[in-house]
Amino acid sequence: MITTYFNITIEFDGKLPQVTLPNPDFFKYLGEEKFRALVSRHYDLLAQSSIKHLFPTHEFALQNAKSRSADFFIQLMGGPEYYRENRGEPMMRKRHLPFTIDMDARIVWLQCYQIALQELKDVPGHLIQSFWNYLDKFSLWMINS
Ligand code: HEM
Repeated sequence: MITTYFNITIEFDGKLPQVTLPNPDFFKYLGEEKFRALVSRHYDLLAQSSIKHLFPTHEFALQNAKSRSADFFIQLMGGPEYYRENRGEPMMRKRHLPFTIDMDARIVWLQCYQIALQELKDVPGHLIQSFWNYLDKFSLWMINS
């Protein structure tokens, strides 16, 4: 049995860590519809969290945010280049600069993903682990406060 560990890296000396891309099989296994549902669930959890002030609340804006975020991950895992087509270069750090993101906000953001990932049914643990490891490390890049 493979156990999935939702480790959150807390040590951060300002030096950005190397990031390993998630295993593309995670996206292949879920398929686009279920992957988009996962991202949607994450945003719905964020909307009820202590960092909800950072995210869009109106339905239309929220749907757009969900779609942009899913586009990014899908492209990252070898799916269609939706993000590049709709938004251009990812430049994730730069795109997050307008928002105040500190370590605590990052932890809440990750915890919302932890809940959403734990709700997935019948997904091999090593694929969830690979996606999680990416979120854990890459989210350190988004800290700007
Ligand atoms: C693995 C780490 C992360 C990835 C891959 C990621 C990805 C994205 C993407 C693709 C967008 C849309 C950018 C666009 O407008 O085209 C976005 C927006 C945003 N992200 Fe992140 N993000 C990450 C971490 C975080 C964290 C830790 C926070 C805050 C705690 C955060 C807060 C936001 C906010 C406030 C927006 C703008 C509103 C929205 O469009 O949702 N992100 N993120």
